[in-house]
Amino acid sequence: MQIWPHKHIHTLANFSIEDYESVFELANRFDALKNAGTKKIPALQGTLVTSLFFEASTRTKNSFELAAKRLSADVQTFAPSSSSLTKGETIIDTAITYSAMGADTLVIRHSSSYITFEIAKKLDAINSKTSVLNAGDGLHSHPSQGLLDIYTLIKFFSQKTLNPEVLNSKKILIIGDVNHSRVARSNLWALSAFGADIILCGPETLIPDEFINFLKNPAPNQTEDPVKSRGSITISRSLEESIKIADAIIVLRLQKERMMENLLSSIDSYSLDYGLTPEKLSLNNKKIPILHPGPINRDIEISSKVVDRYPNCLINNQVANGIPIRMALLYLLQKHNK
Ligand code: CP
Repeated sequence: MQIWPHKHIHTLANFSIEDYESVFELANRFDALKNAGTKKIPALQGTLVTSLFFEASTRTKNSFELAAKRLSADVQTFAPSSSSLTKGETIIDTAITYSAMGADTLVIRHSSSYITFEIAKKLDAINSKTSVLNAGDGLHSHPSQGLLDIYTLIKFFSQKTLNPEVLNSKKILIIGDVNHSRVARSNLWALSAFGADIILCGPETLIPDEFINFLKNPAPNQTEDPVKSRGSITISRSLEESIKIADAIIVLRLQKERMMENLLSSIDSYSLDYGLTPEKLSLNNKKIPILHPGPINRDIEISSKVVDRYPNCLINNQVANGIPIRMALLYLLQKHNK
């Protein structure tokens, strides 16, 4: 396995194929250990993982904390409402404070896009050894979710051994609010790195035409060149036509506030046109996998019948796979710092 090259993880835009392979191989090993009955290992004993979640989270926060505990790290959890943020301390000073307490990795979620770049820059400027791991920043990026989504798809399509190349030329349909989704942006980088043909499907207000150029535009704070993508992006406004040709579907959560912003005429009409139902799924004659990053709006973007009864609905697999993926990320960052 390569020497892990990143001190901080902000985005998948600068992930090489070797980076993805390092994460997936390690996650697969942690998974195999767990399946053999070894849930906890001493790999990060004596290290400190601090979770700084300035935004709500069920999956990501608990999954990172569990991943850290499974590696025997100490885990410190920050609660914004009872912290000195309420006395006016800045987010940057909060991060510096936790670094001074000895945090090896800060796992950060915040509503501002690119904020993890700012925090990491400040920490590096004071020669801090602490790594920053983005757990979702604004609309920009959610790298651990992107990785676990792609890992889930690779596991589904692989025969016996894990083979990321199974995604090459697969038609992956992403439905919904791509424009306001950090998950979708991370999925686009990861899927295209492995040569998937991505179809984005939704109304123009949620998927503007210019999204077709997404992979050509690195983030404003990106210092490294984006990795060359092998896949393609197309945009479709017809869910029925897209479903017919898809090899897998990722459904995105509809953020209901988009109706207030006049981006949708009504939730019901969105649901009628773009909600995933068994009837629409039956247009595809294969039992294709269905993913959703969660939390789900039942019977809005995805029917309860699909969530509860469709055999290849992989939502719970995604949650389970999040733990070994996050174990791998915490482990690799710690090894980088050694
Ligand atoms: N998928 C995801 O980020 O879920 P949470 O908001 O619950 O962490």
